[in-house]
Amino acid sequence: MTQDEAKRAVAAVAIEAVRPGMRLGLGTGSTAKHFVDLLGELVRDGLQVICVPTSEATRAQAQSLNIPLTTLDETPELDLTVDGADELDAHLNLIKGGGAALLREKIVAAASARMIVIADASKKVETLGRFPLPIEVIQFGLGATKIAVAKAIEAAGCTGPTRLRLAADGHPLVTDSGHVILDAALERIPDARALADNLAAVPGVVEHGLFIGLASEALIAGPTGVERLAS
Ligand code: A5P
Repeated sequence: MTQDEAKRAVAAVAIEAVRPGMRLGLGTGSTAKHFVDLLGELVRDGLQVICVPTSEATRAQAQSLNIPLTTLDETPELDLTVDGADELDAHLNLIKGGGAALLREKIVAAASARMIVIADASKKVETLGRFPLPIEVIQFGLGATKIAVAKAIEAAGCTGPTRLRLAADGHPLVTDSGHVILDAALERIPDARALADNLAAVPGVVEHGLFIGLASEALIAGPTGVERLAS
């Protein structure tokens, strides 16, 4: 099975959790894209759901499939969000934001009664940190914010360089909400809660990619099938 086939397979298991009338959060990334495709097929066949996308890319995909969309202003409480992850550990703590959508992803996940993470087995780690941690910051005062972020990282027992994420054109990547992203290459995060708290306290940090206690379940596609982890 290719990695893409594994992503499709895990999305197909997640779609079974969808019920008529649900208010859904739609994730971002290549795995979530499969879920949205499958949801589009169900909607075409008459399923009634209402959805909040976590990025402009997912919004465009959902619109192209005629999936009914809403906002968290109109629909502030969701039943279920299905989203990918860049890393997850056995406690369902996640690193997200490789696709730059972490801010909306976290808001949508927090507004959901359940969050199912869908991923291929390459995303499962013993300790978070191999994937560079995305940190979304406002553009004003970036130099000062970078220094404060480095101190927050060090105080949580982590080390490693932090780089401004660039887009394909070589300019700083700007998120859907108009911010930029610092990627912290930490290799290992011994205390994800401490790092999350430290980063959240830095002025200029809008959000970080550590999702702690948000996922209720993970579906992980491996060579022998789909493994289910629950919190
Ligand atoms: C988007 O910002 C991310 O959080 C994605 O959910 C994450 O990068 C997983 O993407 P893939 O499914 O493409 O690996």
